[in-house]
Amino acid sequence: MTDRYQDFVSSSLGQLLVKNLGLPNPVPLDRYVAGSPLVDGTVVVGGAGRLVEHLPGILDVLGIVTTTTTDAGTRHRGLVFDATSLTDPTQLVALRDFFAPLMRSLEKCARLVVIGTPPESLEGAERIAQRALEGFTRSLGKEVGRGGTSQLVYVADGAEGAVGSTLGFLLSPKSAYVSGQVIRIGSSVKEPAESPDWQRPLDGKVALVTGAARGIGEQIARVLARDGATVVGVDVPQAADDLIRLTKELDGDYLTLDITAKDAPKRIAQHLTRAHGGVDVVVHNAGITRDKRLANMDADRWSSVLGVNLVAPERISDELLAQKLIHDNGRIIGVASIAGIAGNLGQTNYATSKAGVIGLVDSLKASLKNGITVNAVAPGFIETKMTAAVPFATREVGRRLNSMSQGGLPVDVAETIAWFADPASTAVNGNVVRVCGQMMLGA
Ligand SMILES: NC(=O)c1ccc[n+]([C@@H]2O[C@H](COP(=O)([O-])OP(=O)(O)OC[C@H]3O[C@@H](n4cnc5c(N)ncnc54)[C@H](O)[C@@H]3O)[C@@H](O)[C@H]2O)c1
Repeated sequence: MTDRYQDFVSSSLGQLLVKNLGLPNPVPLDRYVAGSPLVDGTVVVGGAGRLVEHLPGILDVLGIVTTTTTDAGTRHRGLVFDATSLTDPTQLVALRDFFAPLMRSLEKCARLVVIGTPPESLEGAERIAQRALEGFTRSLGKEVGRGGTSQLVYVADGAEGAVGSTLGFLLSPKSAYVSGQVIRIGSSVKEPAESPDWQRPLDGKVALVTGAARGIGEQIARVLARDGATVVGVDVPQAADDLIRLTKELDGDYLTLDITAKDAPKRIAQHLTRAHGGVDVVVHNAGITRDKRLANMDADRWSSVLGVNLVAPERISDELLAQKLIHDNGRIIGVASIAGIAGNLGQTNYATSKAGVIGLVDSLKASLKNGITVNAVAPGFIETKMTAAVPFATREVGRRLNSMSQGGLPVDVAETIAWFADPASTAVNGNVVRVCGQMMLGA
């Protein structure tokens, strides 16, 4: 749906009022257009840690142009600072020394990334210094403005070669509505099993997407198909027309069923076995809300929401894993919500289910084998039919209370899922990444 306030502030009168009254200024965000370069402009690389010498080569594979020198007057699309060498809090001043002189040289929708070492793997002063990076990057996300984003990527020792897909995502317009996030790249698999073409990383892969007939699920299907996947869309029989139209357009396949049905996991498994010989990417997107304050919450509202949002993803994942239908280097991807992090009035059922999705990630992340990973997105305010039904005042608060002063689009969630799904993201495991424009709630 349209954001009338954003339309108004793009006019000259709107800009005048924004400047004089200090009103929120939601700038149109750059979004990735298929066939374009991943990053339109140069990225300045700085710092002196474990990764800095590898970064130009890793980014060059993705067609991203880097530089280590900066001339007055040159504008930059992104800044990457390798902070892994900071072993003492007194050295944190290096962050100021690198970023401060460059903050006025940034293009609109600039991308800022700091790379650190996971503090939990360190001790003493080094641990303190690395943990401090989080406050820096989150504040930078609130300061950068004009659609810019800022992230912290903790790279485990030994995972230096596995950062390509993550930096490609974070430096490109694909991460338009992701900011203030802390992402962990582990060392269990040091190099991706294969080095896919970044434009079609999912060529030859099969992706199951539940709730694919509309909204966020439809965009997930579209983006995964753009990246080369054969998409198997799942939705309820009532949504069959939309589901069939979409999957036909994407040259994919479909299955109509209610994911809460007792036999749903077995039917999905059977379909994937017979028609596709297994699956590479499983996206648990289908979700519902049935809001009421707890005092008025009947048992049906509670169990229907828990059933679709949490129990079904758990049962389907268990069945596919038990039958070994998820191929090596496969992906399980959950759709949580910031309600599952911050809680929300009238949503005890929904927030419980979405916090449970985060629990699902935690429970599986250490046990998965053969390069299979599990991660989740936690969307904030995304412009869909679900949020169009929210009362006006609540909707305005949801839209403006974030660093972008606007709602995100379904494609923003889909692009984040596509990054998890990328075969080169094998070392990205156990993450819950918010797609919320750095919303204040639960931050
Ligand atoms: N829209 C937002 O702002 C927002 C924010 C946070 C999280 N989310 C989550 O994103 C996901 C998609 O949300 P959306 O806004 O696109 O919702 P939506 O209602 O537009 O679409 C959900 C889809 O899931 C399908 N579905 C529902 N129950 C099903 C069942 N039992 N079996 C099979 N399919 C079923 C629906 O038919 C529909 O096609 C949900 O998990 C939702 O909780 C959305």
